[in-house]
Amino acid sequence: MSQYSLNINGITRQVEVPSETPLLWVLRDNLDLPGTKFGCGVGNCGACTVHINGVPTRSCMTPVSTVGRKKVVTIEGLHPQGAHPLQTAWQELDVPQCGYCQTGQIMTAAALLQENPNPTDAEIDDAMSGNLCRCATYLRIRAGIHRAAEIAEKKGKV
Ligand code: FES
Ligand code: FES
Repeated sequence: MSQYSLNINGITRQVEVPSETPLLWVLRDNLDLPGTKFGCGVGNCGACTVHINGVPTRSCMTPVSTVGRKKVVTIEGLHPQGAHPLQTAWQELDVPQCGYCQTGQIMTAAALLQENPNPTDAEIDDAMSGNLCRCATYLRIRAGIHRAAEIAEKKGKV
């Protein structure tokens, strides 16, 4: 077991876990942040996506020992009231079906909008291509990202 001091959603959190423990399990099992989901566990589905220093990252493939003091943001920390433009758009357009993949979809989309506030369909498809949805909500996800871009533009930020 090793001790780690992690920056999670702007708060310093201490954990004591084996060094090879994936960040996903630390978030879910040690820090009571179950919004990040386990899908495949091998980097193929995107359900476990979090931001590390703003970059969408597979937490199932990220050993806790590699995180250091980098800033980790999970779906719980994306917006203090759960009202990020993507979350608002997702509700407006009823994007999820079963919902299981949607944390990862939103976290990947949030990073896209940070870099590109008004992406085209092709840019959305390219950025989102690593996030799988077994319910095939892809068209609603794309529409949700366009709607979030509109909401963010009205508010003046993503
Ligand atoms: S659970 Fe991490 S990519 Fe599938
Ligand atoms: S909404 Fe069911 S897996 Fe995406």
